[in-house]
Amino acid sequence: MEKITVKVIILYMFFQQTNLQLLINVKNQGGDVMQEAIVANVSEDTVTLEFLRSDGVFVSQLVDFTNEVEAMKVIIPGEEELGQTGYQTLCFLTHAAQADFIAPDAMAKLRQKNPGTVRVAEEDKGWRQTTATAWAGRATRLLSPAAARHCAPAGDKVYLRTSDLSRWAPRPGVEQSYTAEVTPFPANALSETSDGFPEVGVCVAETNATKACICHLEVCVNWYPCGLKYCKGKPQGGLSYRCGIKTCRRCYRYHFYVKRRESCITYI
Ligand SMILES: *[C@@H]1O[C@H](CO)[C@@H](O)[C@H](O)[C@H]1NC(C)=O
Ligand SMILES: *[C@@H]1O[C@H](CO)[C@@H](O)[C@H](O)[C@H]1NC(C)=O
Repeated sequence: MEKITVKVIILYMFFQQTNLQLLINVKNQGGDVMQEAIVANVSEDTVTLEFLRSDGVFVSQLVDFTNEVEAMKVIIPGEEELGQTGYQTLCFLTHAAQADFIAPDAMAKLRQKNPGTVRVAEEDKGWRQTTATAWAGRATRLLSPAAARHCAPAGDKVYLRTSDLSRWAPRPGVEQSYTAEVTPFPANALSETSDGFPEVGVCVAETNATKACICHLEVCVNWYPCGLKYCKGKPQGGLSYRCGIKTCRRCYRYHFYVKRRESCITYI
């Protein structure tokens, strides 16, 4: 079953290649080379970066610049030995005001001189932690139609942090407040006991498969264009001009509530 799932995901990647801008060979920290596909959609003002990990997990990160929404979609194959069938799709929405991606119009102009080159990012941006507090529900569409399309395969497994809601400006023509459209996690998953830990424990320490717990998921984007480089020089009469890109690596750790430990697929 797992093998079938991986095939489906690879076909999906080929399907995506019709709009392809860049295919980059990237070396990760373990020394493995993987291929990233980066698509810039200038009319929609979005950038999508995706890759298939060697463990079969497919990662697709969308940044919607106009709406300041980042949507990280993760497709995790089930493990056959543990009786899991099919795969699980999750999506995490975060506010992206300080999006460190370069904008779609600049991204669309990028070309590789040597497409076969294996690339390593210049700067390691470290870890970004996100503790989700709610199911995004209908707020996803209000926040970003592009993210809603991107996250549609995740169904109701679209998560966000309610503290981000106040950072998103009201959308033109949208009367409802986002807050009314999200479903917060149960109180015992959000509250803290006197020792500073949530009442609901972490899934890694939970032995009862039917108990609720806090699951976590880690994703590393090993290479992405995070800024433009400017040079001063003769070709432009001494004015500064774009002469390249700066590249970065960033890892993400998402914490989210699951009703049953057995659905915390990464740790079973
Ligand atoms: C850009 O996004 C628009 C709106 O979703 C879509 O219709 C169009 O096909 C996309 N273009 C590319 C090159 O992906
Ligand atoms: C597992 O958790 C469920 C739900 O909280 C509970 O009903 C059940 O008794 C627990 N089983 C064991 C063996 O602790």
